[in-house]
Amino acid sequence: MTNAPPRRGIILAGGTGTRLFPITMGVSKQLLPVYDKPMVYYPLTVLMLAGIRDIAVITTPEDQAQFRRLMGDGSQWGLAFTWLVQPRPEGLAQAFLIAGDFLAGAPAALVLGDNLFFGHGLTDLLRASAASTAGATVFGYRVADPERYGVVDFAPDGTVRSIVEKPARPASNYALTGLYFVDATAPAKAARVTPSARGELEITSLLEQYLAEGSLRVERMGRGYAWLDTGTHASLLDAANFVRTLQTRQGLEVGSPDEIAFHQGWIDCAGLAARARLFAKTEYGRHLARLADEAGGGPPTGA
Ligand code: DAU
Repeated sequence: MTNAPPRRGIILAGGTGTRLFPITMGVSKQLLPVYDKPMVYYPLTVLMLAGIRDIAVITTPEDQAQFRRLMGDGSQWGLAFTWLVQPRPEGLAQAFLIAGDFLAGAPAALVLGDNLFFGHGLTDLLRASAASTAGATVFGYRVADPERYGVVDFAPDGTVRSIVEKPARPASNYALTGLYFVDATAPAKAARVTPSARGELEITSLLEQYLAEGSLRVERMGRGYAWLDTGTHASLLDAANFVRTLQTRQGLEVGSPDEIAFHQGWIDCAGLAARARLFAKTEYGRHLARLADEAGGGPPTGA
């Protein structure tokens, strides 16, 4: 497996956003602010922390122009974006069909455009998951309301017994997060998924195929991590407050593609300074300017 092509990323940012109506009648959910950044920045930075630079962004046909205005071709972050559309929200597994040509036999990481992660050791966890090119790795996170999510049932010895989408009677409190590392067989497996009772190509049906092959790993994200919900008006506000509290207290940015691109060595000091000038009127811009200053105009020192 050492000759596998580099892992490629997919951000799924379609859907109708009906749970955030009327706000999302006029704008895509994943473009809404989470404090000082658009929501999609947060899942984007998860892929970047995993070391992924080649990324397909899947949007609705109507919303794509706005996403492109925000994110461009990715070169400002040393990334390459491929822009794809999902005409109708027919399920998460469809992302691997839409992105099949883009993936061209590479392993992938799919992240939902509304998922926000934070935690000590996240980068190590992401890098370790990205390093394995056979099978699939997904993440279980303990929640109080598992019936809202895909749920993992663990056997007493810790192996995975089943994964079920929004079960009426959840077998555990472990929800599956919206981050999926998969090998090159994902598009073929997605092609075998048939629509569920609610008419969607469920991601759990794709993962069940990995489970049947014995190649599904579920990593538990422990209490040191935050996996935040942005699904309702209240949880969106909570997520914004969480980001604000952390950033204000620590003087560090959560979910900054500019900062991560710099630390990864994908943009240089001049590139970072240019971004800082663009945002000069904001605290975000001042933070980037300080970072560029501290680096002293020399080349970045790496991650
Ligand atoms: O967030 C984690 C959960 O995401 C998982 O635990 C579930 O297993 C998974 O099915 C999904 O559940 P949700 O109820 O959050 O799915 P939802 O339909 O809300 O879609 C999640 C995001 O993906 C949302 O921002 C809209 C977008 N989406 C959704 C569908 C079905 C698309 O872009 N296209 C789609 O076809």
